[in-house]
Amino acid sequence: MTQDEMKFDVAQAALKYVVKDTIIGVGTGSTANFFIDALATMKDDIIGAVASSVATAERLEGHGIKVFDLNDVESISVYIDGADESDDGLNLIKGGGGALTREKIVAAVAEQFVCIADESKLVSVMGDFPLPVEVIPMAANHVKRIIEKEIGGQAILRDFTTDNGNHILDIQGLKITDAKALETKLDSIVGMVTNGLFANRGANVLLLGTQNGVKVVGA
Ligand code: 5RP
Repeated sequence: MTQDEMKFDVAQAALKYVVKDTIIGVGTGSTANFFIDALATMKDDIIGAVASSVATAERLEGHGIKVFDLNDVESISVYIDGADESDDGLNLIKGGGGALTREKIVAAVAEQFVCIADESKLVSVMGDFPLPVEVIPMAANHVKRIIEKEIGGQAILRDFTTDNGNHILDIQGLKITDAKALETKLDSIVGMVTNGLFANRGANVLLLGTQNGVKVVGA
């Protein structure tokens, strides 16, 4: 089975977590795209969706799914999104696609976070995937210096502008053994908008596409 076939399978499996007659949150990336395409088959069962990126909003709307501004909704039943890495505590690294800030906001509002990924994303210690952090452009070098001095690793500026008009630093060379503490520490750096650790609000369930079918972690 290819990686895309595993992503397709977890996307299909995630439909079971969609709460009918509610507004759901939808993530960003190739796995989320498989989910959006799957969601189109039951679009009349939901009121609509809040998107975590412009690209996701466009794909949802392309399928005729109503997209809501987060300020116009009072609750989100479930948020469904991919990840770059997960540990077995369902702490995540996200932001490979650069949408981490809106993803973190939608995840914070949602009652449940269902993460969908292929088996390559589950690791024992996170950090091989560079940890993205979104920064206010004028603060990029300041944030880079603080990270390298106080956290470690090497913070590399990505050639990318986020949907919010900000920049991204990717921190290479970390071994993340206490994701919650690191997330909190990174959050205290002035000039950083969001870091890509989803630990203090991690996933409730991880659906993992494997060669032997979809495995449910943490249900
Ligand atoms: C985007 C993300 C994605 O969820 C993450 O990068 C995984 O993407 P993919 O499903 O394409 O592997 O956090 O900001």
